[in-house]
Amino acid sequence: MRKITIAIDGYSSTGKSTVARQLADWLDYVYVDSGAMYRAVTLYALRKGFISEEKFDRNALVEALPGIALEFRKNKNGKAEIYLNNENVEEHIRTLEVSEFVSPIATVPEVRRKLVKLQHAMGEGKGVVMDGRDIGTVVFPNAELKIFMNASAEVRANRRYIELRDRGADISYEEVLDNVNERDHIDTHREDSPLRKATDAIEIDNTETNIEDQFHTILQLAKDRI
Ligand code: C5P
Repeated sequence: MRKITIAIDGYSSTGKSTVARQLADWLDYVYVDSGAMYRAVTLYALRKGFISEEKFDRNALVEALPGIALEFRKNKNGKAEIYLNNENVEEHIRTLEVSEFVSPIATVPEVRRKLVKLQHAMGEGKGVVMDGRDIGTVVFPNAELKIFMNASAEVRANRRYIELRDRGADISYEEVLDNVNERDHIDTHREDSPLRKATDAIEIDNTETNIEDQFHTILQLAKDRI
């Protein structure tokens, strides 16, 4: 069976990573959560004080980029987790604080260039499912299957709110909704690699469907191309 590249893009909290992970498991493909990479760079920038509510020192971040090493390693359950300079930061990158600063960080062309290069290396020559914002448009424009996921902002914010609350975060639904809307705005309006549907992507809206039904639809689309 030939191995294909599957690109899954879309707005925040549309369930991209859930579907992408399931597909990769089912097809025995590599799964790459490109958002985790932007989040890890953001965590680094926050820890170094390059970005805060008051300031964003882009030059300092760009200069520090060669010192940022990112990789995914599988945990004992086979789930890929992200490492920043050899530290497992999987939990640290999922906070609302990182979510608040990640979109400005993702506007920086030097950051994008570094991460796209890594993403190419991770997906090269093998079956890969990668999810993000620019996978079908910039990272793998020749992907055999491109999916663009969407859902209403309220449904997406509610899903993310439940996820964060279950992990013990002290936040309100309104804070999460604001964050989802703000990230979508920055992601769709930035100059470098804005979030948009590739012309040959298949759009899937899951405002009213559950992730399980959606998984089977996308799996069938993948099988049709293998
Ligand atoms: O997918 P996730 O919500 O974790 O992504 C976090 C943020 O990283 C996005 O809101 C976006 O700003 C950025 N991102 C990006 N390009 C990608 C993946 C994520 O700009 N391919």
